[in-house]
Amino acid sequence: MSDRPTVSLDELPSILEEGRRELAAAADPEGLRTAEQSVLGKRSPLAGLRASLGRLDPSERPAAGQRIERALHELRGLAERRRDELAEDQRRAALVADRLDLTEVVVDQVLGPIRRGHLHLVTQTQHELEDTFVGMGFEVAEGPEAETDWYNFEALNMPPGHPARGMWDTFYLKLGRPETVVLRTHTSPVQIRLMEGAEQEGRLPIHSVMPGRCYRRETPDARHLAIFHQIEGLVVDRHITFGDLAGTIETFTGAYFGPDIHSRLRPSYFPFTEPSAEFEITCTICHGAGCRTCSQPGWIELGGCGMVDPAVLAAVSIDPSQWSGFAFGFGIDRCAQMRHGIADLRSLMENDVRFLRQF
Ligand code: PHE
Repeated sequence: MSDRPTVSLDELPSILEEGRRELAAAADPEGLRTAEQSVLGKRSPLAGLRASLGRLDPSERPAAGQRIERALHELRGLAERRRDELAEDQRRAALVADRLDLTEVVVDQVLGPIRRGHLHLVTQTQHELEDTFVGMGFEVAEGPEAETDWYNFEALNMPPGHPARGMWDTFYLKLGRPETVVLRTHTSPVQIRLMEGAEQEGRLPIHSVMPGRCYRRETPDARHLAIFHQIEGLVVDRHITFGDLAGTIETFTGAYFGPDIHSRLRPSYFPFTEPSAEFEITCTICHGAGCRTCSQPGWIELGGCGMVDPAVLAAVSIDPSQWSGFAFGFGIDRCAQMRHGIADLRSLMENDVRFLRQF
């Protein structure tokens, strides 16, 4: 027995203690594998101890073997539990990393508190114009943006080939026979629709304004857009005179632009009104003194107007000997431009929030 090295089971408690510590200290699955190698692997102190069992006196072997097996069993169990814990940690970390926080609002942090948006300046202007006219006793009506040639031109006293059609550069739609459907070039076709409906249903007189989008084949510049907005006015009643038209326009001008802004009418031509006029208002930039915006006279053109041509009344079967009327139409975008001193109308359509937020 003297040639056999003593197997010291005295070391078992410290080996066990060291094994527990190593396994518990493993910080991730990789670390755990390394710890298992050194605690339970072939070259571990425990394996060494077991291999030397044969050198023990046979009578001591079973008890020593049992003690070693119990230690192995405990350490294997610890390794198993540590593996579960680490897997759970990993799952939790992945959940935290993948979490989609839908309540996170980046603008809140970057741009300051959230602001509620507001209507576009053109829409606000349209509503203010409607309110002004409603306050003067008008109703508000609307019509389609895609119009037939008849409503946009022919019923407005412009038969096919009429040279006055050249006043409106027109977009045609590929609908029906060629050149029969247009994107309306003005809101005047809604006059025809209102008069037709009122005549058929016995709803005359008419006192209405008709706002809406219009289209012209134009290259946009500081004062023109290819897509723009107009508001049309139409009164058809008994004994309507040019004085009613002039008074209505002056009342509107003061109500909308303020008491120091006035209107004037200058003779002009439209196929659907007779007589016709351009209506101008005091330049809102120089208040009449003369400036670059109004090209000196101190007046700025807002739109067209006139007495409804008897030929137009006849086209919708309204008796011109019983009824007469006036009409006007002007640009909503142009109104916004003048009221807010906007140098270039194109800014209204570029959708730069830094510009739009100001209004
Ligand atoms: N529709 C005309 C235009 O767009 C304006 C107008 C309307 C003129 C009503 C007279 C009467 O140019």
